[in-house]
Amino acid sequence: MTYKLDPLKYNYDALEEVIDEETMKIHHDKHHQAYVDKLNKAVEGTEWAEKSVEELLKNLDSIPDDIRTAVRNNGGGHYNHNLFWETMTPGGSKEPVGNLKKAIEEQYGSFDAFKEEFEEKGAGQFGSGWVNLVEKDGKIEIVGNPNQDSPISDGYNVIIGNDVWEHAYYLRYQNKRPDYLKAWWKVVNWDVAEERYNG
Ligand SMILES: [Fe+2]
Repeated sequence: MTYKLDPLKYNYDALEEVIDEETMKIHHDKHHQAYVDKLNKAVEGTEWAEKSVEELLKNLDSIPDDIRTAVRNNGGGHYNHNLFWETMTPGGSKEPVGNLKKAIEEQYGSFDAFKEEFEEKGAGQFGSGWVNLVEKDGKIEIVGNPNQDSPISDGYNVIIGNDVWEHAYYLRYQNKRPDYLKAWWKVVNWDVAEERYNG
C-alpha cells in the first residue's frame, strides 16, 4: 500500500473565520504531505507496507525497532491529521447532539464545562502535541498526547482532536494558543463527532 494525502473536502479558505488560508495550505500540503512521504519511506519493502495506518498504530509494539519511531511519528501524523481535517467544517452543528451530547453532560456537567477542560488541557500540553476527546468502553475522556502520538495506540477511539503544534495556529495567533483553542469550536464538525462516538 502506498499511503496518500487526500484533498480537503472544503476550500483552503473555508475555515477563514478561525484558521487562515495560508495556514491551511501549509499545514495540509506541506506538513501533512511530509508525514505521508516519510511513512511511505519507513515501511517501503517491509510486510508492514500492506497494513492500514490504523493497524500500524494499534500494533506499534510489534513493529521492528529500526522503523518503529518513524512509524509512530509519521503514521501518527498521517492519522491525526486525517481526523483533524474531518473534524472541521464550515457549516454543520455548532454543538454536540444525541448520544454524544448526553455523554458529555453526564461526564462534565455541561457542554461549556467540557469545552473549558478541553481548552485547558490543550493550552497545558507542553511543546507540540494534540488534545483529544476519546472514548473507551463507552466512557469518554479528554487526553493530551505529545508529538504525533495517537490515542488509538492506547486502545482509544478518537471523537475529536485539536492540533496544538505551533504550525496549526502561529501565523494568526502567534503565542496565544488559548485564543486558538477557544476560537476552534466555531468550526468543529459535531455531526462527524457524533458518528464517531456512535461508531
Ligand atoms: Fe499539524
